Amino acid sequence: MKKMVIGGIILIVALMTGTYFVAGDAFQSDDYINSLTMLGALAIIVITVFTVLKYVNQIKNDTATGELADESWDGIGEYTNPIPSGWGLIFMGTIIWMMWYFFVGYPTNQFSQIGQYNEEVLENNAKFAKAWENPSDETLTSMGESVFLVQCAPCHGVDAEGIDGKAQDLTHRLSKEQVLHAINNGSNNLGYPMGAMPAGMASGEGAEKIATWIAGGMQGEQPAEFAACASCHGPDGKGMNGMAANLSGFDDTLVGKVLENGKKGAIGTMPSFKGRLNETQEKSLRHFLNSIQVKG
Ligand code: HEC
Ligand code: HEC
Repeated sequence: MKKMVIGGIILIVALMTGTYFVAGDAFQSDDYINSLTMLGALAIIVITVFTVLKYVNQIKNDTATGELADESWDGIGEYTNPIPSGWGLIFMGTIIWMMWYFFVGYPTNQFSQIGQYNEEVLENNAKFAKAWENPSDETLTSMGESVFLVQCAPCHGVDAEGIDGKAQDLTHRLSKEQVLHAINNGSNNLGYPMGAMPAGMASGEGAEKIATWIAGGMQGEQPAEFAACASCHGPDGKGMNGMAANLSGFDDTLVGKVLENGKKGAIGTMPSFKGRLNETQEKSLRHFLNSIQVKG
């Protein structure tokens, strides 16, 4: 028996040393849940080793008595003894431990990996904001290009010209087709303070003229029919300081609104990027889009 106890103690020490090597950091952290988990591990190992020792010893020395159960498996019978109380206690203990661990310990109101992740995200966001507090225009433009290549190029293409017409060609503000679509169907998905643009503000030849002029980058003489649009978009078509969409370029308001609300128009649907880009990234995208504008 003595030899077995010594063997058991050696086994406990070996298991705990192994645990320490694998998860020793937990001892150093000031998170008491980790320390409790370690304590639990120790308790489980000690109880298991000594329970096993007890029963191995019993198998060796006991001459069992009692009533045999009716079942017999290949000649091996089973006594109708009650469950060993040690086993029963461990079983109950595990259930209580599980309840405690689940409801009290982790992760409902203590350390959680999700919480830690969120904290780290906030920390790194703050670092990012600080590192790019005052970026130069060139920095913003090249940052915008990087963001664009990751987030926008899958639809708009690496050269921003739209892939097979499946997303807008962003080197030009609006195509003729898009302007006609807005005139015929109205527009109400960008979330401007002015609200919806009603359908049918122009028609026929007038609409054609306006659309050609806008798609051409609003160069040359303004068609007289544009007066119908100027009441909202302004005489210069720039959207009256963010009240309606700027038809002549991608200004801050427009890009901000598109990123926030997405866009559904003549070409297709662009998903909203709300919450997926930070302020610096949005600003950089606006710089990049303006840098690639081709008039006409
Ligand atoms: C009553 C005010 C009003 C009038 C008049 C008006 N618009 Fe608009 N327009 C808006 C508003 C507001 C928006 C942005 C709507 C939205 O949220 O999608 C808009 C959007 C647009 C768009 C879509 C911009 C984009 O980014 O896709 C085009 C193109 C457009 N207008 C062209 C015209 C033309 C051309 C006329 C004249 C024939 C005209 N609008 C007359 C208010 C007006
Ligand atoms: C899933 C495809 C898709 C992705 C990704 C996408 N777009 Fe778009 N985008 C579109 C489509 C389609 C349109 C044209 C909508 C229409 O007018 O029919 C569009 C239109 C636009 C417009 C013009 C909006 C207007 O009112 O004229 C801008 C600006 C724009 N996208 C910027 C971006 C930026 C910046 C990104 C990356 C952050 C991006 N897009 C990512 C599909 C996409």
